[in-house]
Amino acid sequence: MVQTSAPGKVILFGEHAVVYGESAIALAVSLRFRMRVETRTSNRARSHRVDGRRVDTGHHAYFAHALAANWTGAPLEMRTRSEIPSASGMGSSAALAVSLLGALTELGGGSIEGEGARERIARAAFETEYSVQGRASPTDTSTAAFGQGVLLAKQAMPGLLMHVQRGAAEWYVHSIKVPRLNIVVGYTGEKSGTADMVGKVRKAYERSAFIRDTVKEIGKVTMEGLTALEREDVARLGELMDRNHQLLYNLGVSHPKLDRLVAAARPYSHGAKLTGKGGGGSMVAITDEPEEVARAIKAAGGEPYIAKIGAPGVSRDGD
Ligand code: MEV
Repeated sequence: MVQTSAPGKVILFGEHAVVYGESAIALAVSLRFRMRVETRTSNRARSHRVDGRRVDTGHHAYFAHALAANWTGAPLEMRTRSEIPSASGMGSSAALAVSLLGALTELGGGSIEGEGARERIARAAFETEYSVQGRASPTDTSTAAFGQGVLLAKQAMPGLLMHVQRGAAEWYVHSIKVPRLNIVVGYTGEKSGTADMVGKVRKAYERSAFIRDTVKEIGKVTMEGLTALEREDVARLGELMDRNHQLLYNLGVSHPKLDRLVAAARPYSHGAKLTGKGGGGSMVAITDEPEEVARAIKAAGGEPYIAKIGAPGVSRDGD
């Protein structure tokens, strides 16, 4: 039996545009997806089970794909527990895929701490997300696998972890220093599917030069955000987050509730934007007054999380 966990994430800059090879910056947060996996001992057991239910591609798409591609052993009994609200834009599906692949590594006789193991887990989890969603970037899965802070860029820079290529898009995945920031996440309570949101942007991207320019502009804002992070210039960082929110709004992935929570947080924040896929889901603010921001988000109908950033990546937990 093994127990593993992996962190959720917030994206500070670059969601959606990163699917087209632009840059993105994500931070692992202290909310984790946890699972317990063991092989089913009964001779009659034929199928994998999650929380007592047989794994099927409809209900458990991420489990079904990850297991089909990465496990040839006996049927598995899996129990899950998540602190990350599902479909909230905080990376619960990536954390699920990564903690499952971590468990498979350990059950197969390997170790998550072994040489190259995190990279293999990150790559396999990216393949899982890609096949379930039809399109994806390695942002969420690398953040869940490596933890701390992650930068995806168009070229190799200091802190390089791995290079990933998929069709016309390629990404250099780096580890970056976790900034000293107070972050508040506001969940709208509106669930949205990543595949739907990524598909919506893809249709617009194929049709519209304005959308393609917007995607490029998000990439530029992300690289300016990286400079502001390195200089610990929170005022500039905030301005760039506000700009990134406007660009995501122009892409068509915001939601009236997200705009409301962003507006409510701004008077107490350096900057605020939607985070993750949008269409509902969550927003993130950076602030010196986390309690005030949390209160404002709550008053505007959202669910606030004062998130600790810079959590460790996938880990084997105590048995
Ligand atoms: C979702 O957290 C981030 C997106 O950019 C999709 C992806 O990168 O795979 C919307």
